[in-house]
Amino acid sequence: MRIRIDPDRCQGHSRCYAIAPDLFDVDDYGTATVRHDGHVPADLEESARLAIRNCPEHAIGIIAR
Ligand code: F3S
Repeated sequence: MRIRIDPDRCQGHSRCYAIAPDLFDVDDYGTATVRHDGHVPADLEESARLAIRNCPEHAIGIIAR
């Protein structure tokens, strides 16, 4: 599974980072980026899906299954 963040949508709510700090980073402005080039280990896929559901801006998407 591979995910990405749309930088035009991300408003820095940081919920993704709170849910899955192994998958996301936030900069000083709270804007998130994906770690590991968006590759999600199998054991973190449920966390990734939870982060996707909890982003109020719908900024996180799955780009490969
Ligand atoms: Fe941005 Fe959504 Fe995370 S707005 S900081 S991708 S929760």
